[in-house]
Amino acid sequence: MASGLRRIAEKIPGLKYKSEAAWGAHGPQSRLLIRQSLVEALEPASEDRETLLNLHKRPRVNGWSISISHATSEGGWVALADAPHAIGDRHPVSVGLDIETAARITQGVIERMCTASEIAAAPQVAYLWAAKEAAYKSIPDGSQPQVLSAVSILTWQPDGPGVYRFTASVPGYGWLYDSGSTHYAVYAALPD
Ligand SMILES: CC(C)(COP(=O)(O)OP(=O)(O)OC[C@H]1O[C@@H](n2cnc3c(N)ncnc32)[C@H](O)[C@@H]1OP(=O)(O)O)[C@@H](O)C(=O)NCCC(=O)NCCS
Repeated sequence: MASGLRRIAEKIPGLKYKSEAAWGAHGPQSRLLIRQSLVEALEPASEDRETLLNLHKRPRVNGWSISISHATSEGGWVALADAPHAIGDRHPVSVGLDIETAARITQGVIERMCTASEIAAAPQVAYLWAAKEAAYKSIPDGSQPQVLSAVSILTWQPDGPGVYRFTASVPGYGWLYDSGSTHYAVYAALPD
């Protein structure tokens, strides 16, 4: 089965991605498999390779913005290279990924984390959670707010079958793909 991330990758030039059902859940084995896949895909220098394979450390690879997510049914990663965009003093890229099992997101969860205007603007309330997590995860370390609710999802527009483009209160654009059972959201900030 083609990855749901493929539908979003078509929208973001240069996005590398991979997801697998076998990488579902948050167990150490699936977490390691995701990181091994990143090693194969990005071929990092040995220091970054060690960091990537250390499950006690946040995944980092020089020259790339990467983000990992695990749902019960599937796990995956996305990566965007800094290099083609890092001209002069422009900021490097940043990217955030969230994969959510649709059934896990209840109205109660959404109402605790989202404002009435966010709920009114979203095509489906359940989309808000994945959108918010992806936007939050795209914020570089050191600038992240303490709570997810500090990131607002502002606008939504349809962008192809099952795909929506959204904006948030942080730099960048996001895309959400609704496969029915799973929601995939990627938020990416590129320099102007
Ligand atoms: C960070 C957060 C978005 C992770 O989301 P999640 O639904 O729990 O888990 P996901 O499966 O989508 O993502 C987990 C992956 O995100 C990455 N990650 C962890 N913390 C992160 C962060 N702060 N920013 C970006 N990515 C993060 C890791 O790669 C992790 O997988 P790994 O440990 O196997 O490498 C979530 O914990 C959250 O909402 N945090 C809100 C802020 C918060 O809780 N702060 C606590 C201090 S008060």
